[in-house]
Amino acid sequence: MTRPLCLVTGSSSGIGAAIVRRFAAHGYDVVVHYNSGQDRARAIADEISGRHQVTAGVIGADLSQRDEAFRLVDEARERFGRLDVAISNSGVANYVRGEDGELIRHRFQECPPEHLDREMARVLDLNLMGAYRFGQRALKHMIEAAKSEAGTGRPSHRSILFVTSISDAAPEATRIPYGVSKAGLNHVILGAAFEAGPHNITVNALRPGVVDTPLTARPSGVEDPESGREYTVAETYGLMAKGGSQALPWIAEPDDIAVAAHAFTQIPYMTGQMVAVDGGFTLANGFPNRELFLNEGLRRRREGD
Ligand SMILES: NC(=O)c1ccc[n+]([C@@H]2O[C@H](COP(=O)([O-])OP(=O)(O)OC[C@H]3O[C@@H](n4cnc5c(N)ncnc54)[C@H](OP(=O)(O)O)[C@@H]3O)[C@@H](O)[C@H]2O)c1
Repeated sequence: MTRPLCLVTGSSSGIGAAIVRRFAAHGYDVVVHYNSGQDRARAIADEISGRHQVTAGVIGADLSQRDEAFRLVDEARERFGRLDVAISNSGVANYVRGEDGELIRHRFQECPPEHLDREMARVLDLNLMGAYRFGQRALKHMIEAAKSEAGTGRPSHRSILFVTSISDAAPEATRIPYGVSKAGLNHVILGAAFEAGPHNITVNALRPGVVDTPLTARPSGVEDPESGREYTVAETYGLMAKGGSQALPWIAEPDDIAVAAHAFTQIPYMTGQMVAVDGGFTLANGFPNRELFLNEGLRRRREGD
């Protein structure tokens, strides 16, 4: 009996790496996909094959380039002869680096046109277009496979999952292109779910909150009031969580998201859903933190703000 195959984009790092590890632990063959991290991807694949009785392949592709998403899916399917779960996870934040490697940040209202265009294009090319093409090709292969099971009753359950973000809805002026890319994917999921359903293929989105990965290891622009050291994004949101910004007072580890990714793809009757796995980040509003906001309001009134 052949094992099911799970292909995860961006599995050379962070959340994607945790997802391939978890699927392998559940008996799936996996494809570890990378863009720049070939050595990291190989090390993850070696670790998986050493630990579990499964095959871990490695394929590179720059998914911001038009034909690469198609090649990646075709190659995975050719090598393993099947595709049961396809997870679109690759993604970048909308930071643009200058020639010296420094992060160039502007307030939205002050952003010069070239920068405005560059950061939107960089994010949409990968987060939206790469995921869109990847999902389309995965769906095409899965429908073909389902059709080849014709006459045997309902085809086997297959699943496509897009790792999006709560930034699809959560407002953040410094992350508009990122939020646009993730919100755009929501519509892909809705449309694809309808085409996929008759073939017993489910299509969903997993919307993580803040996760401690290399993506959130970049500087946040917030400084420690005592040392002056700039916190990373993960540190800033970790402190906010501790302070009551979300129901669970800590940010996620990559495996917290991987557990959900595996679970969501096993649910046979859930499709077209965009589910937050965010420790209650999106539950937070003024009410649970009324004391905090009341005190801040009183402080500002005192200071004539
Ligand atoms: N971390 C969070 O707090 C958080 C929250 C919500 C949503 N997410 C989403 O979760 C996903 C994974 O993020 P992460 O935090 O795990 O980030 P990460 O550790 O930075 O991993 C990003 C992955 O994307 C790949 N990638 C980058 N550019 C690519 C390109 N041009 N073509 C193909 N792949 C490319 C990277 O490959 P290489 O390293 O090989 O270049 C890497 O495997 C992203 O879609 C992100 O938007 C993350």
